Amino acid sequence: MNLDHDDLARQDAHARVLLAMPDAIDEAARILQRGGLVAFATETVYGLGADASSDKAVARIYKAKGRPRFNPLIIHVASVEEAMAYGVFNQEATELAAAFWPGPLTLVMQRREGAALSSLATAGMPTVALRVPRHETAQRLITAAGRPLAAPSANRSGRVSATMAKHVSGDFGGKLDLILDSGPCSAGLESTIVSIADGKPRLMRPGAIPRAFIEAVCGPLAALAPSATPQSPGQLRSHYAPRAELRLNILEAAPCEPHLTFGAEGPRGSHVCNLSATGNLVEAATNLFAYLRKLDAFGSATIAVMPIPAHGLGEAINDRLRRAAAPRNK
Ligand code: TXA
Ligand code: MG
Repeated sequence: MNLDHDDLARQDAHARVLLAMPDAIDEAARILQRGGLVAFATETVYGLGADASSDKAVARIYKAKGRPRFNPLIIHVASVEEAMAYGVFNQEATELAAAFWPGPLTLVMQRREGAALSSLATAGMPTVALRVPRHETAQRLITAAGRPLAAPSANRSGRVSATMAKHVSGDFGGKLDLILDSGPCSAGLESTIVSIADGKPRLMRPGAIPRAFIEAVCGPLAALAPSATPQSPGQLRSHYAPRAELRLNILEAAPCEPHLTFGAEGPRGSHVCNLSATGNLVEAATNLFAYLRKLDAFGSATIAVMPIPAHGLGEAINDRLRRAAAPRNK
C-alpha cells in the first residue's frame, strides 16, 4: 500500500473521540457534509461513516479500511421512506422492513434508477444494501447530516469488528476525523443481511436477528446462489480475523493458551474469557468481538475456542468464528 506523508502522520496521530452528546453529533454531521469520516455506534457494531452520495467521501472509507473496492457498503438511512428513494421494494422487502426496521436487518435489493448514491458505495453493482439502524446516535447523526451514510463496520478490512470506541481508535488512530463514543454496542454482531434482489429472500449473512425470526415473516430463506464472484464479499472465507490463529471446538486449551469459553462448565483462569457463564447466546454475541480482541492481546500464536451451540444467534456466532479461523485470504 502506498502511504503519502499525510497518511503516515494521520496514522500515528491520536483519534479524536467525543462522547455522543448532541453538540458532538452536530459537529459530526458537519464533518460528514464536508466529506469527512466519522465512526459512530449502531446497535450491532461501530460503523465507519461517510456521505453515501459523494464518491470522494466514500473513497476515503475504502482507503482508511484497506477494503477492496469490489466490496460494496451498506447504506444507512433514518426511515423506510428514505430507503425507498434508493431501493426498489417488492412485497417481501416491504414486509421485512415493516417487521424489523429500525433494527439490525440489512436488505439487499435492486438499486432505484437515478438514486443519488455514489456508485463506488455500491461497487458498481445494480443492487444496494439498505439498513435503518435503531441506535439513537446513528438515527440522530443520519438525520442531522441530512444524507444517507455509507458505513462498513469500523475495523480494518478482514479483521475483528469493533464494538467499543476504543477498538475503533486502536484500529485507525487519527485516520478518521471523529469517533463518536456511545459506549459498547448492545447486539455485538453485525446485522443480518437478506437479499430480495432476485425476488426470493436469501440469507447473505447470518447476524443479530436470528434466522427463525426472519423466516416467521417471509417463510424459509433460500441459500446463497452459487456464483464465481462473492455476492456478499463479507462472505469471503477469511474474515473477522484476530492476529492469532483460532482453534475451534477445543474443550481443553494448551497451557497458557488463551481460551474463549461458553457456559457454566467452562474452565476458569487468567487466560479465559467466558462468552456467557449462563449459556445465554444473546450475551455471548454481545461479548464475542470484544473478547476476541482481548484474548488476541495476550500475543499468543493461537486462541482456543470452546464449541458454541448452533441454534438461534449461535448460527451467526459460529459463522464469525469459522471465518476468523479460516486460512487468511492472502
Ligand atoms: O451491522 C452491520 O451491518 C454493520 C453496521 C455498521 O451497520 N455494517 C457492516 O458493514 O457490517 P460491512 O461492510 O462490514 O459488511 C457489509 C456486508 C459486506 O459483506 C458487503 O459485501 C455486503 O454487506 N454488501 C453490501 N452491499 C451489498 C450488495 N449490494 N449486495 C450484496 N452484498 C452487499
Ligand atoms: Mg465488516
